[in-house]
Amino acid sequence: MMLRLAIEGQGHAVVEARNQREAAQALQQDRPALVLTDLRLPEGDGFGVLRAAKELDPELPVIVMTAYGSIQDAVAAMKEGALDFLAKPVDPDHLLLMVDRALAQRRLLTEYILLKEELGARRGAPQIIGDAPSLKQAILALQRASGSDATVLLEGESGTGKELFARALHTLSPRSEGPFVAINCAAIPDNLLETELFGHEKGAFTGAVARKPGKFELAHRGTLFLDEIGDLPLALQAKILRALEERRFERVGGTQSLHVDVRIVAATNKALRAGVASKQFREDLYFRLSVFPIAIPPLRDRQVDIPILARHFVERFCRELKKKAAMLAPSAIEEIQKYSWPGNVRELQNCMERAVILSESDTIHARHLNLSLHALMPAEAPNTWAAFDFSGTLADVTRRAQTEVEKKKIELALKEAGGNEGRAADLLGIGYKPLLVKIKEYGLR
Ligand SMILES: Nc1ncnc2c1ncn2[C@@H]1O[C@H](COP(=O)(O)OP(=O)(O)O)[C@@H](O)[C@H]1O
Ligand SMILES: [Mg+2]
Repeated sequence: MMLRLAIEGQGHAVVEARNQREAAQALQQDRPALVLTDLRLPEGDGFGVLRAAKELDPELPVIVMTAYGSIQDAVAAMKEGALDFLAKPVDPDHLLLMVDRALAQRRLLTEYILLKEELGARRGAPQIIGDAPSLKQAILALQRASGSDATVLLEGESGTGKELFARALHTLSPRSEGPFVAINCAAIPDNLLETELFGHEKGAFTGAVARKPGKFELAHRGTLFLDEIGDLPLALQAKILRALEERRFERVGGTQSLHVDVRIVAATNKALRAGVASKQFREDLYFRLSVFPIAIPPLRDRQVDIPILARHFVERFCRELKKKAAMLAPSAIEEIQKYSWPGNVRELQNCMERAVILSESDTIHARHLNLSLHALMPAEAPNTWAAFDFSGTLADVTRRAQTEVEKKKIELALKEAGGNEGRAADLLGIGYKPLLVKIKEYGLR
């Protein structure tokens, strides 16, 4: 009774049971956050209560009370999963302290489990959203590559999902239990990149107070993601090439050759081939990396994915920000489809996060998007062609097009030459006389 009052005094509800059977019933019915039981009960015993509690929930904290001197029973109870024990007569302050601690621990545990689940959900096959045929093709290639250890090169503009693809590849591969280690070659200063990649020995340079493993070592039995590989300095390209070819390397300042088992995925946002042509990128490394190239198309080239991704992100951010599920108004959909998304999916994602935060109601309007107008899709083809006459045969149309283009070009040349026909003829690469004929024909003077 005294204990009950003490615990209730702390704002907790207490359910009392007089014997093991009542305790089992209360466990089922009331789902307590904590169990306090005497090891001696009028019917059954505290061990029975402990077992019933553990059966219901292995993490349920159980505190047992024992008579003074029967420490062995207490130890036995701890072995069976009791959190702690109290010797009778119980000191209420001691009890309250123990209750507080047990409840806090339980909260932490719940949080930990939730976090772990969330992380797991994030880690478990990252979702690649989109319906565009070009994206589907890239996903298919990814699936095909995942079964092997082939080096994969992901090519795509910034924000198209290269890292997402790399993680998905790892998750789908037989190495999914191993580590996924990423390094961004563009984000690390050249002089630090080598030790980041290969690690260093103690005393390799001033400040190397301890041996440090590099990313290659850390990725053993897993996948190493070399992001922005196009930014790798030439000197390091040679070292990477050797590590790729021989699967071995040395730490900086070390002599021992280390062997690693890693699968390489590289990503680049620039045309590596151009880098090869301009001697910024080693050709042999390029060939080594591009065994299995996968191109991820920019978002503006997969229009169908824009609303699909937008809705996906809106739904996600509403959930994360604990807002009511929001809808995209038709005006907003229209706007996002007109926009060219130079930052690709990343930009769309950021835009939707901002919109979800800014929208006061459960509808996202165009004004919540904040899209800069200069990056709108170029108002191209439809307008150019709308004015063009497509009637007649192919020959008719071709002649008409040629005439149009010729006339326009001559106009431009005359303008550039400041109205001087002789200079315009030079610019056009035709004679003076033929130009005058055309000017007359097209009625340009
Ligand atoms: N198809 C997609 N489906 C869902 N999310 C995507 C998709 N493509 C990109 N993202 C998201 O957009 C952001 C940018 O992608 P990321 O892989 O970092 O691009 P990159 O490495 O090419 O710059 C990430 O948050 C990523 O999860
Ligand atoms: Mg990236």
